[in-house]
Amino acid sequence: MYVCVCKAVTDTQIRAAAQEGARTLKDLRRDLGVTRDCGRCASCAHECLREAHGDQPKPGKVLRKAA
Ligand code: FES
Repeated sequence: MYVCVCKAVTDTQIRAAAQEGARTLKDLRRDLGVTRDCGRCASCAHECLREAHGDQPKPGKVLRKAA
């Protein structure tokens, strides 16, 4: 699914970036461009990154599934 619509970045790309060493949202911004335009993807991108590293989502946070 698309996480960042402005830069057409998917959750698959975020997981790949995590495997290559991205640890923070700043890393994703540098590597993939997420949050550079409208910034609405920040929360979802951060949660996706946390999941990629095996961290549990914060309570109340659920990644939206594509329709
Ligand atoms: S959705 Fe990511 S910058 Fe707009």
